[in-house]
Amino acid sequence: MFLIDQTLGRSRRRDEAQRAAPHRASCCALTPMRQIIFILMLITLAACGAPAAPVDPVAAGGRAFTIQCGGCHAISEVGSAALGPRLDAMVARANATPDPAAWLRMSITNPAAEIAPGYRPGLMPISYGQSLSPAELDALVAYMLKVGG
Ligand code: HEC
Repeated sequence: MFLIDQTLGRSRRRDEAQRAAPHRASCCALTPMRQIIFILMLITLAACGAPAAPVDPVAAGGRAFTIQCGGCHAISEVGSAALGPRLDAMVARANATPDPAAWLRMSITNPAAEIAPGYRPGLMPISYGQSLSPAELDALVAYMLKVGG
């Protein structure tokens, strides 16, 4: 009986040692090869998290147009010409000037300077010079010149 107990005890201890051994090897002891793979994975992850390419101004301008202007104006297929003129004609007018982008920027930030024929003055907000950043304004103008020309 004692002999059996001793044998069982020894084999149980060996089992436990074997169970612990592979665990220790996989979790704590990184072989040099594993370290290299681990570092390569970190580099790949860092590359994935790098800042994306700069925002496309035309796409950003399109989103801004839909939100800020599309309630009153239409351009190409976007927005509704409920209150203001279709802006395709405005882009055509801008393109007839020496600096189309400057003309559009002026007509957005200072709409009262010239009133579109047949439309009521005072409806177009006069605040875009303050509420839009120069980059947002540039993006809007780039979008309008692209789709409305
Ligand atoms: C609340 C309605 C409304 C919103 C919002 C609005 N507009 Fe207008 N817009 C008008 C009206 C009405 C006119 C015509 C009267 C005038 O020329 O001021 C006009 C005129 C214009 C003109 C022609 C100006 C000229 O000199 O003839 C441009 C260009 C223009 N809008 C661009 C925009 C852009 C770009 C936005 C968004 C950033 C915008 N508008 C937002 C109502 C609006």
